[in-house]
Amino acid sequence: MKILVTGGLGFIGSHTVVALLEKGYDVCIIDNLSNSSIDVLEGIAKITQKIPQFFNFDLRNQEKVEAFFKEHHDLAGVIHFAASKAVGESVENPLLYYENNNNALVYMLKNISQLNQKNFIFSSSCTVYGEADTLPITEGAAIKKAESPYGNTKQIGEDIIRDTCNAVSDLKAISLRYFNPIGAHSSTEIGELPIGTPQNLVPYITQTAIGQRDELSIFGDDYPTEDGTCIRDYIHVVDLAEAHVVALERLLQSEKKASYEVFNLGTGKGSSVKEVVSAFEKVSGQELNHTIAPRRPGDVVAAYADTEKAQDVLGWQTKLTLEDALESAWKWQLKLKEADA
Ligand code: WQD
Repeated sequence: MKILVTGGLGFIGSHTVVALLEKGYDVCIIDNLSNSSIDVLEGIAKITQKIPQFFNFDLRNQEKVEAFFKEHHDLAGVIHFAASKAVGESVENPLLYYENNNNALVYMLKNISQLNQKNFIFSSSCTVYGEADTLPITEGAAIKKAESPYGNTKQIGEDIIRDTCNAVSDLKAISLRYFNPIGAHSSTEIGELPIGTPQNLVPYITQTAIGQRDELSIFGDDYPTEDGTCIRDYIHVVDLAEAHVVALERLLQSEKKASYEVFNLGTGKGSSVKEVVSAFEKVSGQELNHTIAPRRPGDVVAAYADTEKAQDVLGWQTKLTLEDALESAWKWQLKLKEADA
């Protein structure tokens, strides 16, 4: 069976392509390389000894999307990662985000409705919850007003999918709300490739430890948490990739005509920034230069997943720990340095 993975050369996309290929699926990738590198294709091939078909075009090009689906009407499912995902950038350039994250989604769904098998997995985010009222966060938690255009595009995206599932008789879809994806494949052939200065915590930590950054700024230690720093649910990207295969197979095997479901994907465990720093120092054997800096606007105090629905309905839970993820991120950073040498 052939599965389309959009954004399949990106961080989570590439790990999901590996998981799909290893499960015996044929995979084709659409990626415009705006936030990824063609080298990732080689990394996927080295791990799996398979080379997925790769199509380099932009999903905002409606004609190209249409032409692709006409040619690939035999697709069994689509996993849609392709989107812009930098919170700060979305504030400066909202129209880029609404066009890239929502218009492209509409073009995808319009064409998927022409397929025989209409199975769609959407890459969503815990960011839709904003500052949740209760922890851990369940899928029934209130969807708060988004703190950024990026978060809003994920909320709007879920609404677009839900309404389309209600209208298109045999379209089945699942939105997966990721918490904080970190880490890299154990082979160190693929991993996170942030462009420019990393916005996210773990790549900033590994780049500091390797000497690429002077020090980590911890954005605020005066939050109402045990050690004063924000709490997040850091999930290993390999566990996250596996969850996409499980969700896809739920759609492929589902007898239901039309359906729309949402699942939180996290470990269920919250870790503070300081705890992540200490865990990194432990697994890397390196002291990390860090300083306390002012709070970052838009940060929520704490977010970690209630994992019950994913366990009970998907039959999926994480297997890897925070330390496993940090160790894999560090090994990947060391490999990148070797490659640059
Ligand atoms: C985690 C914690 C920071 C960097 C974002 C998006 C989310 C998803 C994951 C796309 C926070 C602190 C960070 C640094 C720090 N992205 N931090 N110094 O903000 O929870 O989630 O990325 O899907 O949608 O919102 O992740 O890694 O940026 O921050 O102290 O240099 O680390 O304040 O408490 P975040 P993050």
